[in-house]
Amino acid sequence: MSLEAIKYNGHKLQILNQLLLPFQSVYEEISGHQNAWDAIRSMKVRGAPAIAIVGTLSVALELKDQDFQDGESGRQALLSNVTSMFEHLKTARPTAVNIAEAADRFINRTSELLKKLLDNKTNGIRDILILEMERMLPDDIATNKAIGKHGAQRILEHCKNDRATILTHCNTGSLATAGYGTALGVVRVLHETGRLEHVYCTETRPYNQGARLTAYELVQDQLPGTLVCDSMGALLMKERKISAVVVGADRVVSNGDTANKIGTYQLAIAAKYHNIPFYIASPLKTIDFRLKSGDQITIEERPANEMVCLGGQRIAADGIGVWNPAFDVTPAELITGGIITEKGVCAANCLKFLQC
Ligand code: MRU
Repeated sequence: MSLEAIKYNGHKLQILNQLLLPFQSVYEEISGHQNAWDAIRSMKVRGAPAIAIVGTLSVALELKDQDFQDGESGRQALLSNVTSMFEHLKTARPTAVNIAEAADRFINRTSELLKKLLDNKTNGIRDILILEMERMLPDDIATNKAIGKHGAQRILEHCKNDRATILTHCNTGSLATAGYGTALGVVRVLHETGRLEHVYCTETRPYNQGARLTAYELVQDQLPGTLVCDSMGALLMKERKISAVVVGADRVVSNGDTANKIGTYQLAIAAKYHNIPFYIASPLKTIDFRLKSGDQITIEERPANEMVCLGGQRIAADGIGVWNPAFDVTPAELITGGIITEKGVCAANCLKFLQC
């Protein structure tokens, strides 16, 4: 795997600054949770799984530097530090559920360990937590590979040709995850098994994650790819024999409605019209069973300059109003292929069967 968005060796955390790609590959050190919050908010690191991993590893690093006394006050200090760091990280970007899921999971785990391990030293409990946080990197890669395998298999079962042609949106690859990718992981498995005819990636306006990042990953890894503007999706489906549309997710909710990068919804509508299966590729951790429908998802709005400037140059008339929602919600009924998870492919309206 050539691209590494997150480098971590137990002492040092670095991210590839995605705002500088594809022209410069610059790694920046993340020294603690506030630094991670800034990198996430400014989108130096982005993509739902990558946000959660960088946030969590920044907490792990900070905990390593903290010494907790034994006894009730030291134990309370551990819980309160873990809670305050994660609660802050949750606020960096509100739509992607993965950082909130990781935060709640580790806050609960801290309470659980403190209750269970009454005779352990506080620093010993801290160390158990750190090890569990560090598992996120290898676990995410294994998850993505499983998603890739299930997705490729399902797409080929429903494909009229021997080899599949895929349309994807935004960036869901190595840069958005610990490595390999979710929707792009599906594309990778097709490629590795000789069953990928072609992949089309959208530019992904307004912030161009497709043009800047996915196009870069495709070129780096020598996948047969073509970049299109977002406005070309429907024509592409009409004229280029697309076997499936596969995208990622920032939050899937109980009824299967899915928040993903703005522009996903219109691709799903066009896919339904053209009778092309539409898939969401998403780890189980991205499913938020607490929310019943997509109407309950908070949609992040990004600053106007990310829309009206390209490469630092303003392209829109001064004085015009700007609306810049970063995500939209695709209703479950348009996710006709299903939700591809590490456990298999599930119909979007049957997610309750995955709830443990
Ligand atoms: O605003 P971004 O670039 O963080 O949005 C990313 C997406 O919408 C991805 O599709 C999603 O996070 C899944 S990444 C595996």
